[in-house]
Amino acid sequence: MKKKYKEIISFRIYYFLLLLLGFYILPGCKSKNSKREYTIGFSQCVGSDQWRKTMLEEMKRELSFHPELKLIYTNAENSSATQVQQVRSMLRNKIDLLIISPNEARPLTPIVEEAFSQGIPVIVIDRKTSSSLYTAYVGADNFEIGKIAGAYLVNKLDEKGSILEVMGLSGSSPTIERQRGFYHALKNYPNIRIVKQVYGNWLINEAENEVNKIGVSSKQIDAVFAHNDQMALGSYRALKRHNPTNKIKIIGVDALPDNGLKYVANNIIDASMLYPTGGKEAIRTAFSILNKEHFDKENILKTVVIDSSNVQLMKMQSDKISSQYRDIGRQQGRLKEQEKIFNNQQILLNVLVISLVLAIVFAGVAFYSLNENWKSNKRLESKNQEIQQQQNQLLEMSAETKRASEAKFNFFTNISHEFRTPLTLILVPLEELVADTKLPLTVKQHLRLINKNVIRLLRMVNQLIDFRKIEYDKMKIRASENDLIAFTTEILDSFKDIASKRNIDMRLNSTEKKPMVWFDVNMFDKVLFNLLSNAFKFTNDNGRILITIQKDEEKKEIEIKVEDNGVGMTEESVLHAFELFYQGESYQSKGSGLGLSLSKEIIQLHKGVIDVSSKKWKGTSFCIRLPLGDAHLQEEEKLARTPEININYDNIKLYTSDLDQDPSKEDQALAFENIKEQSLLIIEDNSDMLDFLKQKLANEYEIFTASTGNGGLHEAFERVPDLIISDVVLPGQSGTDLARVLKNDVRTSHIPIILLTARGSSEQQLEGIKTLADAYITKPFNLQHLTETIKNLLDNRNLLKSHYTSEYQGEGKIPVSKKLDKKFLNDFAGIVESNLGNENFNVDVISKSIGISRVQLYRKVKALLECNITDYILNRRLQKAKYLLMNEDLSISEITYQVGFSSATYFSTVFKSKYNCTPSEFKRKKDTS
Ligand code: FRU
Repeated sequence: MKKKYKEIISFRIYYFLLLLLGFYILPGCKSKNSKREYTIGFSQCVGSDQWRKTMLEEMKRELSFHPELKLIYTNAENSSATQVQQVRSMLRNKIDLLIISPNEARPLTPIVEEAFSQGIPVIVIDRKTSSSLYTAYVGADNFEIGKIAGAYLVNKLDEKGSILEVMGLSGSSPTIERQRGFYHALKNYPNIRIVKQVYGNWLINEAENEVNKIGVSSKQIDAVFAHNDQMALGSYRALKRHNPTNKIKIIGVDALPDNGLKYVANNIIDASMLYPTGGKEAIRTAFSILNKEHFDKENILKTVVIDSSNVQLMKMQSDKISSQYRDIGRQQGRLKEQEKIFNNQQILLNVLVISLVLAIVFAGVAFYSLNENWKSNKRLESKNQEIQQQQNQLLEMSAETKRASEAKFNFFTNISHEFRTPLTLILVPLEELVADTKLPLTVKQHLRLINKNVIRLLRMVNQLIDFRKIEYDKMKIRASENDLIAFTTEILDSFKDIASKRNIDMRLNSTEKKPMVWFDVNMFDKVLFNLLSNAFKFTNDNGRILITIQKDEEKKEIEIKVEDNGVGMTEESVLHAFELFYQGESYQSKGSGLGLSLSKEIIQLHKGVIDVSSKKWKGTSFCIRLPLGDAHLQEEEKLARTPEININYDNIKLYTSDLDQDPSKEDQALAFENIKEQSLLIIEDNSDMLDFLKQKLANEYEIFTASTGNGGLHEAFERVPDLIISDVVLPGQSGTDLARVLKNDVRTSHIPIILLTARGSSEQQLEGIKTLADAYITKPFNLQHLTETIKNLLDNRNLLKSHYTSEYQGEGKIPVSKKLDKKFLNDFAGIVESNLGNENFNVDVISKSIGISRVQLYRKVKALLECNITDYILNRRLQKAKYLLMNEDLSISEITYQVGFSSATYFSTVFKSKYNCTPSEFKRKKDTS
């Protein structure tokens, strides 16, 4: 919560700083964009002469005050056609305003009108078009200029004289207007005449040529009016050539400081009419038009005559103006520089401010991250400490466990040592007793059982001690080089008897004749004994055990394989097969969980490996691989002398005795075969336990046995015993599965079942009871408790009988097996009732209609009704006869027929034996009463 709050605050700080940055940067951007930019197209008819250059300079100077105005400039070089094209291209390029000085009026009029009609403002400067469709005009009054020039010459020539007029371009408006103004000034002075007119097209050279051509002399003309100063200079040069001394008055137009003014000052020409370019005024007017400010359409510029009387003054003025312009230029240059510096500083400032803001933001982020980092480091540190503590605790606990298990193991080993002597002392006299032929058979059987189990105990004790020696005392092997085949054969010999008794096909296959292998004979024999003993334990009679020995030259190993086709192991058991004390399922439950662990330890001491592969119900295969040669052994692990192979008798006894079946088993079975009132089926895979129970219960009950779940099921259906005792853990179907099947089958549902197992957990008991087993007894059990339970369950059948035959059906749930039994009895009674009149009716008819065998039917009826079927049928016939005699008016022979007796005499005999009177006597008694 606190963390989230902090995050929100820091996010707000960043947001605020960014806003600040925005506020700082945005106004700058805004001020730059506030003035709209415009493009002015300026089409000049000619650009090379000084007057036009001055015009352009003036424009540029004025534009420098308006940076938002951009100028596109074209120069048509005295060509009207070129100028039209240039203007058209400007219009295409979307200019905002057009300034034009048309070369000639007529050719340029249409394009100017077109621009004007498109809505583009047009400023006509100096020269005009033939139309009034323009936005503004800037320029001096050329008619006025012509007029002033005329008046000046009238005065200078004392109203008498001849004049040569050198005119500009014929189609351009100043030519036309200046000429008209000049005429107008002279028309009232008849003694002044224009004797010659030539077109100089505004150019020096052309004027000089034209004047040259006419070859005038001072006698013929007194004065020249040239329409500009350039042509005045050209005329001067031509006239000078022809009349070097004569003084002809020459006047021009424009009065530019470096041209006209200079010519006047140097007496080249006599006067010049000031003709301002209007560049500055044109830009000012354009600015007003574009910014929608007030402007005048006609902007007529002033003119004045400059001659020797005022030329100096004018020159001074113009010099001053020029120097002021230069100052302005310089100021502007500086301004630009300042602006540049300002811009650079502005950029620098922006960068600085942005950097500062970013630095603050990053510092904030860095501080926040640092803080978080510090906190998470703190958290990690405390977590680390916690883990370290836990680790230490675990280490302590594991050391403690190790100590405890070592102590436990030590205890077991010590106890084992203690056990070994008494067990051996028990064993010796016991063997003598077993060998005593005088003892009764039952005593002998008990002694054999004791003997087997003492040996089993001794074997476990020995294995425990061996294991301890290897594991904790780091016992070393004492290996010698031996013939492995001879060694194995000798061990196999110990199992020969058992193999032949149980018809097990035991074979040794080898690719080698005499493979010499280094091993400790006193240890390795235990491994082989253990593997073979296991193979025999879990292989059924008539099975197969195969021992294979083969060399792997490449790996320099020898492989000893012990394979059987016995009950096999589950995948889970295979995984744990070599674990100490592992007893996962029935396979291991026959052993102590020590033998295979010990074998593995012994093989590892030999630097070999042992592994197992197995498939449930298919068989098991153990494979040992031992290295060949003695390179893998240390010197102290090798015996100097090879001992003679002498298989330890004790080992033979320890590993083979409990595989041996009781030799008197068959006789014993016969001895018990007396027909008994009630029968029991015992299902148990431990043959000793089976024999024990059989022996203890055979006196009272007929005993059937089975050693697997499936065998038990088969026997139950086949024999229909009065009670079943079954182990829970069985090869094949478990005892609980078996109980479930039997209780759900009409043929066996009535049979009480006792489940017997070594597992005593309450869940397992509950599971057993859920299967409808009638009792659950855990091993080790008290025999008396078992026999009492058997008795009780069998006695209870009488109670059951009354339950089944009573008409009352309880409201509570009846277990499935009892429901089945009730249905069976209903069916059975129904069949009997409907067949009472059938004299051929017998057990076969019932067994066929119910669908179970005669024996099953017989046993079931016996169990549920405690009578045999024939008696039951006879009884029902007699009861019906009694009823008919009492309630129906029928003759004896009719009743005889209706209750299924073949003859009246037989009916009478049977009736009498039951009711102590003949049917006729019974009828009579009833009639009289
Ligand atoms: C310059 C010029 C000037 C003259 C004007 C007339 O090109 O010839 O000398 O006054 O044009 O348009």
